[in-house]
Amino acid sequence: MTTAILSALPEEQGSLMHALHGAQALEHAGRRFWRGELYGQPVVLALSGIGKVAAATTATLLAERFGARRMVFTGVAGGLGDGVQVGDVVVARDFLQHDMDASPIFARWELPGYGRARMPCDADLSTTLFEAANAYLAGAAGQSDAMNPTGNAGRAARAHQGLIISGDRFVSTSAESGALRQALGMAGHEALAVEMEGAAVAQVCHDYGLPFAAVRTISDRADDAAHVDFPHFVTHVASRYADGIVHGLLQGLSKT
Ligand code: ADE
Repeated sequence: MTTAILSALPEEQGSLMHALHGAQALEHAGRRFWRGELYGQPVVLALSGIGKVAAATTATLLAERFGARRMVFTGVAGGLGDGVQVGDVVVARDFLQHDMDASPIFARWELPGYGRARMPCDADLSTTLFEAANAYLAGAAGQSDAMNPTGNAGRAARAHQGLIISGDRFVSTSAESGALRQALGMAGHEALAVEMEGAAVAQVCHDYGLPFAAVRTISDRADDAAHVDFPHFVTHVASRYADGIVHGLLQGLSKT
């Protein structure tokens, strides 16, 4: 069964491409896809670029042309939930598009035609991914830089599981992230993290009936410092997380 591993940026995919056996690069619709075998599993790696439309196009191509039978997104996100700190990892339970608003025709955030705002991830695939994230963090805790990837004094990185929200906006002020948290929280949507692609891929996977899971490493707190923290983290830390967690995931999948 071919697993698609999808990221927005090359740094979010780490050196997975270099670990690929029998790699075959293919170009389509301005995107590059790599087919091969990774840790014993048939995979296709893809970079979507940034934003929901780019991610949805890439996910559709993965399903239609590249034979993907399940999809995993690996990348970074801004932390929103209490206790979700830079260097932590969030595995999605479900996704919501925070910039979807067809009110008053539909309830705010509801996906027209789907009768709901939240798109769930596949429970089994997400559990395997969460276990891989925890195992990676436990192993990395012995290494000083992984324990405090930003150089901040503090606690060891943690893995969380819950709601991730996506929208076509880099959230870079405390006012904006506070307003998002408050509005969503009042409607019972406690978001742990914000990014720009996951909900689109979740919707495409839902439409095709494909299992989907996503892991996001927290690169910033979606606050006034986000524009400084994000590039630093993406360049220096994100790729190591991707390598370690995806390796663990594929090992876990080979046992099932
Ligand atoms: N990805 C990483 N950090 C983000 C942020 N603050 N807003 C949106 N997407 C992000």
